Amino acid sequence: MHDRNGDDGQDPKEKINYRSTFRLLLGFILPERKGFSAAFAWLLLSTAFNLLTPIIAKHIIDKAIPARDTSLLALSVAALFLNSVSFLAANYMLRMRLIRTGQKIMTDLKKRMLAHMLALDLPFYAEFPVGRLTARVQADASTLYELFTETTVNIFRDLLMFIVTFGVMFYFSPRLTLLLCAALPFVVVFSSVFLRRSSALFVTVRKLASEISGFLTEHINAAGLLQAFNREAMTAAKLEEINKRKFDTELKGELMMIVFFMSIIMISPLSIAMILGVGGGWAIEGKLTIGTLIMFILYIDKLFEPIFSVSEHVSIIQRSFSAGHRIHKILERKPAITDPPKPHFIRNIKDKIEFRDVWMRYTDDAQWVLKDISFTLPRGKSLAIVGETGGGKTTVTNLLFKFYVPNKGRILIDGTDLSEISLNSLRTSIGLVQQDIYLFPGTIMQNLKLMDEAIPDAMVHDAIKSVGLEQFFRRHGLNKVIADKGANLSAGEKQVIALARAMVLNQEVLVFDEATSHIDPYTERLINTAMQRLISHKTMIIIAHRLSTIRNADNILLVSEGEIKESGTHDELLAKGGTYSRFYKLQFGEGAA
Ligand SMILES: Nc1ncnc2c1ncn2[C@@H]1O[C@H](COP(=O)(O)OP(=O)(O)OP(=O)(O)O)[C@@H](O)[C@H]1O
Ligand SMILES: [Mg+2]
Repeated sequence: MHDRNGDDGQDPKEKINYRSTFRLLLGFILPERKGFSAAFAWLLLSTAFNLLTPIIAKHIIDKAIPARDTSLLALSVAALFLNSVSFLAANYMLRMRLIRTGQKIMTDLKKRMLAHMLALDLPFYAEFPVGRLTARVQADASTLYELFTETTVNIFRDLLMFIVTFGVMFYFSPRLTLLLCAALPFVVVFSSVFLRRSSALFVTVRKLASEISGFLTEHINAAGLLQAFNREAMTAAKLEEINKRKFDTELKGELMMIVFFMSIIMISPLSIAMILGVGGGWAIEGKLTIGTLIMFILYIDKLFEPIFSVSEHVSIIQRSFSAGHRIHKILERKPAITDPPKPHFIRNIKDKIEFRDVWMRYTDDAQWVLKDISFTLPRGKSLAIVGETGGGKTTVTNLLFKFYVPNKGRILIDGTDLSEISLNSLRTSIGLVQQDIYLFPGTIMQNLKLMDEAIPDAMVHDAIKSVGLEQFFRRHGLNKVIADKGANLSAGEKQVIALARAMVLNQEVLVFDEATSHIDPYTERLINTAMQRLISHKTMIIIAHRLSTIRNADNILLVSEGEIKESGTHDELLAKGGTYSRFYKLQFGEGAA
C-alpha cells in the first residue's frame, strides 16, 4: 500500500500544478485507452461475480432449503462454484490487462524521460545531481505505475462495490441497511485521521530512506578516499544515526498501522453482532428472512471495505500528482541552448574559428571567468592554451561546444555566429578529448566506437594508426573490458584511449583538454607523438598542463584570471621572459629551452 522505499521528495513549499500534471497523466492514459477499456470491462464482470455470491447464498437458504429441493440446492451450489471460478478468471484477465498496459506506459515514460534528459544541457545537470535524478525518476515512475495499475481500477471497483452492495442491501432491508450505515461517518473520519497521521510519518520515512541511499552512493563512491583518510568509523556512525531515526519513525508509523488495522478488524464482528442482534429480532418477528440475515453478514465487509480504502486512494493520488508534477517539471524543461529557427549547418571548418571580445561567467552573481578573450584560429593551425588552474581554459572549450553561451562577445566559425549554427553540426565537426575522461563500462573497442556499433572496426583501426598508437593497443587488447569509470586503467591510459576515441570520427577540428594528472614519461611520449602528428594536419585547440605537448603549436595563449596575458609561439614567449618562460623553467628545470 505505502511505498516506503521510494524517494517521495515532497517539497511542502512547492505548489503542484494540478492542471498541467493532470494533462500529463492523461497524455499517458489516452494512447492506452484500448487497454484501459478492456480492463474496465473485466472489472465490471469481476465485481458482478464478486457481488453475486451472497445473493445465491440467500437463494439457497430462503428457497432451496425450506422447499427441501435438493436439485435446486445442487444447482445453486454449482452456480456458486461457477461464479467463484468466473470471478477468479475475470480477476486474472483484469490484472493481466492492467500490468501489460501499466508496463507499456512505464516503458514509454522512461524512454521519453531519458531521451529528454540526454538532450538537456550542462546547466541542468549542475542543478539536478545525476544520482538523485535517476533515483527520483525510478521512484516517480513506480508511483505512477501503482496509480495506473492499481489505484484507478480499485477506485472504480470500490465505488461500484459500495453502490451495488448498498443498493442490494437496501432493496432487501432498508431499515437494517440504514442502521448499519449510521456507523459509516465514524468509519470515514476515523480512518482518514489515522491514515493522515501515519502517512505523514511515512513521508518522513521515505525522506530518510532517500537520505540513506544518497549517503550510501556518495560514500561508497568515495570509499577509497574515506579509507585513505581513515574515516570509515565516522561514516558508519553517521549512517547509524540516520538509520536509527528512520527506524524509530518507521516503528511509530507501523504501530499506528497495526492499531488501525486491529480497529478495522473489530468493525466486522461488531457489525455482525448488530445484524444478528437487531436483524435477528426482526427475523423472530418474521420481518426478515434468515437468508437476508446471512446475506447481510456476507455483504457487510464489502460495504465497509471501500470506505477504508478511500483515504488510501487519496494518498496515492496525492503522491501520484507530486510524482507527475516532478516528471512534468523535467519534461517541460527546455534545453537552455537550442538551435535557432533556421540553423546554419556546417560540415567542416573552411576558414577559421574566432573568439571576439568574449566575456563569460557561470552565474550572474559570480565573478567573470573569461574577460574580453579574443583570438583567431585559422584552419589547419594549432592553438595552445596554458595557464594556472581555474584560469578559464576549460571554459573556452565549454563555449566553443555551446555547452554554455557567452555573456558578452561573439564566437564565429567561418564568420557565422555560433548562435546561428546547428548544435548537431557544430558538435559533429569538432572532436573533443575532455579533461574529465568518462569511459563506459565495456570493451576498449566499444568505447572507441562511443558505444555505437554502427561504426565499423576499420574506422577504429585507422584512427589508432593515424596517431601512431598501434603499439599501445597491442599491449591493451581492444577486447579488454574497462571497469566502471575506468577503474582498472591508469590516468594516462584513460587519456590515450580518450585521444584515440576522438580520432575515430576523423573530424577536422580537435579540442584536447589535457587532464591535470601526472602521467609517466612513456605515456607522455605516446601522447606527444600523437599530438605532433595531429598538429601537422588538423585544426587544434590544445589545453596543456605539460608544456612539452605544445612546443610546436602555432600560437600559444597564456590565460590567467580569465585574461590573455601573453601570446605567441613557444620560442617567442620564451624569449619574452614572462610568465610562460617562468612556467616552462619550473617544469623543465632552469637550463631547459
Ligand atoms: N559549471 C560551472 N559552474 C560554475 N563555475 C564554474 C563552472 N565550471 C568552472 N567554473 C569556474 O570557472 C573558473 C574557470 O574554470 P575552468 O574550468 O575554465 O578552469 P581551467 O582553466 O580549465 O582550470 P584547470 O586548469 O584546473 O582545468 C573556475 O573558477 C571555476 O570554479
Ligand atoms: Mg580545465
